[in-house]
Amino acid sequence: MTSSPPSVRAPQSGPMSETCLRGVPAGPLRGRLRPPGDKSISHRAFILGLLTVGRTQIEGLLEGEDVLHTGRACAALGAKVAREGNGRWSVSGMGIGTLLAPRDVLDFGNAGTGSRLMMGVVAGHGVTAGFDGDTSLRKRPMRRILDPLTLMGAEILAEAEGGRCPILLKGTPEPLPIEFRTKVASAQVKSAILLAGLNSPGRTVVIEPQASRDHTEKMLRFFGAEITSEAFGPHGRKIILEGRPELRPARIVVPADPSSAAFPLVAALIVPGSDIIIEGMMMNPLRTGLLTTLWEMGADIEVLDRREEGGEEVADLRVRASALHGVEVPEERAPSMIDEYPILAVAAAFAAGETRMRGLSELRVKESDRLEAIAAGLRAAGVSCAIEADDLTVSGRAGAVRGGGVAETHLDHRIAMSFLCLGLAAQKPMAIDDERMIATSFPTFKPAMAQLGAVFL
Ligand code: S3P
Repeated sequence: MTSSPPSVRAPQSGPMSETCLRGVPAGPLRGRLRPPGDKSISHRAFILGLLTVGRTQIEGLLEGEDVLHTGRACAALGAKVAREGNGRWSVSGMGIGTLLAPRDVLDFGNAGTGSRLMMGVVAGHGVTAGFDGDTSLRKRPMRRILDPLTLMGAEILAEAEGGRCPILLKGTPEPLPIEFRTKVASAQVKSAILLAGLNSPGRTVVIEPQASRDHTEKMLRFFGAEITSEAFGPHGRKIILEGRPELRPARIVVPADPSSAAFPLVAALIVPGSDIIIEGMMMNPLRTGLLTTLWEMGADIEVLDRREEGGEEVADLRVRASALHGVEVPEERAPSMIDEYPILAVAAAFAAGETRMRGLSELRVKESDRLEAIAAGLRAAGVSCAIEADDLTVSGRAGAVRGGGVAETHLDHRIAMSFLCLGLAAQKPMAIDDERMIATSFPTFKPAMAQLGAVFL
């Protein structure tokens, strides 16, 4: 990979004093902000560039640590990956079926998506690659990916206990076409199977019980693959991919990430007097569950200038401080807002009455056990909450949240940003023990929020 921006090595641990940061109550948030490029789309842009003959151009790529790890992995597997300007990158690949065997273990840092999608790519090619990452990634379950990939003919040569990284995966040059029903609604599982299926001589079918984000399908179609998606049951989808397509290099414009936009959005709702504009946020309906929920809670969010950019619907949002009230968030909405529960829980803490979020088992296997991390952070801020089975109930304090505690982030960027936002609207500053992982998904979080008036000390 050439000319990459300065990067920080994903930390393993560190003394609290050096890494601690506090969100401090200050005045209202005002102004405009464009969140960074979508993380899911950025990973996929690099990966499809690797699998396409010729030069794929990317604009607005998220230059966060997670995505840069995927870029380095693409380079190790044979692509020429070059940074051409701020967010502008090019990837020159050699096409499906022609990966190089990487010389070193592929290090994905903190990135579950990058590592899992790339396992799919490697599984469908005749190469062997090692996969590893930081202490958070080493805890994450990979069986859900490895099981279907071994059905397609890949072999696991080595793995840590319970199917975890470090993993040594031997791919097959002739992956079997399979029909696979995913047990959980996971875009990572679906995408790994489809990426392996790209080099299969037949038709790969994935059936998911609840529709998960569809960026892999959309981008594959955009690159010329034959792929269809149809409803399956009340909430699910059936995706059918014809193997061995000839992918054509394309120009990808990455829209602003709704999962990153969620932080300034909720901060503006809970800090009294705030009035901000969030620019160019992706409005893909499989990603906007948080907006639906916040509207139900009484949030004043106006959608301005809906338009299409780079094949995705985007819009600007005007967000004004609002008196929120508690709601019940149904389980079937979870896939469309799976990364937004930490910041939704913060919004719920400032709402009047209880918010009950149902069916959150998947939160236990994210960058941290997010269900426990959210609950512990809320309690440290003086907010009562309860976990019953897979549901989280937050007892809202109608705007009067004490703050004043320390939230442990467990190497989880979204826990870090959520509790910093809580501190902006609480009675006392709220600390987090470790700010470093914010660089994985929103490297400009601190300056971008400071421009709106946020204070972090
Ligand atoms: C992602 C899918 C989600 C999400 C992750 C990004 C993706 O994971 O939590 O941050 O880009 O495919 P699951 O699909 O496993 O829920």
